[in-house]
Amino acid sequence: MQKPWEGRFREKTQEFVEKFTQSVSFDKRLALEDIEQSLAHVKTLLRAKVLSQEEADTLKKALEEIKQDLQRGNFQLREELEDVHMNIEAELTRRIGELGGKLHTARSRNDQVATDERLYIKREIKECIRHLKDMRRELIRLAENSLEIVVPAYTHLQRAQPIRLSHYFLAYREMFLSDELRFVDAYRKVDALPLGSGAVAGVDFPLDRFFTAEELGFRTLVRNSIYATADRDYILDTLYACATVGTHLSRMAEDLILWSTEEFGFVELPDRLCTGSSIMPQKKNPDILELIRGKTGRLYGNLISLFTVLKGLPMAYNRDLQEDKEPLFDSLDTVKACIKGMTLVLEGMSVRAERMMPQLGDPMVATDLANYLVNKGLPFREAHRTVGNLIAYLISEGKSLKDLNLKDLKEFSSLFEEDALKLLDPKWVADRRKTYGGTAKEELLRQIEIAKREEGI
Ligand code: ARG
Repeated sequence: MQKPWEGRFREKTQEFVEKFTQSVSFDKRLALEDIEQSLAHVKTLLRAKVLSQEEADTLKKALEEIKQDLQRGNFQLREELEDVHMNIEAELTRRIGELGGKLHTARSRNDQVATDERLYIKREIKECIRHLKDMRRELIRLAENSLEIVVPAYTHLQRAQPIRLSHYFLAYREMFLSDELRFVDAYRKVDALPLGSGAVAGVDFPLDRFFTAEELGFRTLVRNSIYATADRDYILDTLYACATVGTHLSRMAEDLILWSTEEFGFVELPDRLCTGSSIMPQKKNPDILELIRGKTGRLYGNLISLFTVLKGLPMAYNRDLQEDKEPLFDSLDTVKACIKGMTLVLEGMSVRAERMMPQLGDPMVATDLANYLVNKGLPFREAHRTVGNLIAYLISEGKSLKDLNLKDLKEFSSLFEEDALKLLDPKWVADRRKTYGGTAKEELLRQIEIAKREEGI
């Protein structure tokens, strides 16, 4: 098989080098983008009068046929042809002769590969955003269904304050909304056309790059031809967006793993989403959540890997940049699968309200008892100490807050009156937090409405 660049070479490439330098085994994923780009390049070359109408028509037809063969899996990619770009060009030449070689006029693989990647990422980011949206809908559904369930909110994984469970689900919904914004931001930067930059210095044919950008649906151009071919920041941005989704998914996975333990028993995962043990017959493991947590490692790794490739790389294109693809593909595949997995968990899990609801008089209401005293004129620090003493007393006596009557409360502060006893009810306490974004039922109802409006539900 002839190599497009073999003219200046007097020796056949050593087999090891072919294998070591090839990228077609993974950049074949850019094949359809490569065709799409070539179709636009044909039009640009026609406008620049580099191609005649007849030549352009022949190229277009052949490219479309190759595209069909690719889609049907009838296209044999060869490692000795290095990458997907040279494979397609070689096939084009095989089919239509010399004219196939004209397609590469005013184009280098350096601007070609960056263009393919950007086209690919734009499509994939839209997919990621769609997956995130599906997951957020599930979180909103859970928020609506769990309004009446009061649960402990934890800080330091110690019971902190009572909240309505909806509040928890809305928290993750907002995290995953911020993830969408990161993807949108990445998309804006990806949405610029490098084609027409050539290998590094621009091209000496009168290409209308603005026309090409419009043809390919790019918002703008990457202006500087050196930057256009040397830069991979658009991949970093994408990998960062993926890594952040991973962080959030991993936190939620950790919560749900804990919550599904016998010790917590807050949620139950359906059998269809769990796996068993080859030795312990009783086991039902939340492997799906553990893998979501675990795969976050790859998402970070891919980001760091590309950072490391780029660091210290001299301007402009260097072959090192070929190492951008596997992390990119892996992160996009991984993040989509993890979001999908989490969405299934959210759809399938059942919430065990009876296990979650705190008892009347749970010490989580202590902040509110202190605030009660503040409302009666005590400085907060003093109120904090007074209630702290009360809790210490209960611990030493092995008692709970609900064992106390007004007389007992008054032993600690004469400011306590009958209405303080209401604060022993976690639900009542939760509903006192009416500030914007707080856990009171009326506020949560409002937040659910806002969320639904934002999601177009
Ligand atoms: N396969 C190469 C890559 O992924 C394409 C660009 C190669 N350019 C070159 N001059 N060798 O980066």
